[in-house]
Amino acid sequence: MSQDEHLRSEHSRSGDGFTEWSWETEFASLADAPLRPPVRPIEPIAVSGRDGGVSRRAFIKSVIASAAIASSAGYVLRSQSARAATPGAAERLVTLTVNGQQRRVDVLPQETLATTLRYKLGLTGTKFGCDRAECGACTVLLDDVPHYACSTLTLMVRSRSVATVEGVANADTGELHPVQKAFIDELGPQCGFCTPGQVMAAVGLLKANPNPTVDEARLAMSGNMCRCGAYEHYLKGVMRAAKEA
Ligand code: FES
Ligand code: FES
Repeated sequence: MSQDEHLRSEHSRSGDGFTEWSWETEFASLADAPLRPPVRPIEPIAVSGRDGGVSRRAFIKSVIASAAIASSAGYVLRSQSARAATPGAAERLVTLTVNGQQRRVDVLPQETLATTLRYKLGLTGTKFGCDRAECGACTVLLDDVPHYACSTLTLMVRSRSVATVEGVANADTGELHPVQKAFIDELGPQCGFCTPGQVMAAVGLLKANPNPTVDEARLAMSGNMCRCGAYEHYLKGVMRAAKEA
């Protein structure tokens, strides 16, 4: 059986909500589909100045201080000495709500949430893929809505609830989230690099829409790339999780 015939037989199985696949129907459905907003706009950051807004002096000082810090070695180990050496650095200490916990962290004005999560808070489940809002490997939930952490400034999420893949399993029992179980059952993870982002996109979808159609699920997952090409596995995982949750 050729690969094309194999794909057709896979997709023509009846009773699982999937219709027979073809390039024609795929392109036709994509042409009609609304664009998925990958990143919801967030209010502009308020940098403290004498008038409560952004002052030119404060901005330049913060950029110079940031450059000095960035050029020294080691994110975590250097933070203590850099804070002591940089006037006003203590003002960068912010409290974030991450996976239900309050975390105090020293954040640079231009620092992205993915950097903070991975290198300041040790939450390395959030992956860096493209680092430019294209691949979805860094997807986290902000107030239950999927966002790309690589393209979100950390200082913008101070008043928001951040959820990463480390926080989706049951914290008390360690039981996996239904999405995680369904992805395993449907053999979604291949190399696994995109899996945390896929999990967060699916969890965000099911919070907003517990019973999505296949097309709604496909659209919601369209901001997450998988270099292993396991899109159908992840899609079936989302539908299975919706059915079993
Ligand atoms: S690393 Fe954020 S979208 Fe690719
Ligand atoms: S499972 Fe390898 S990139 Fe998606």
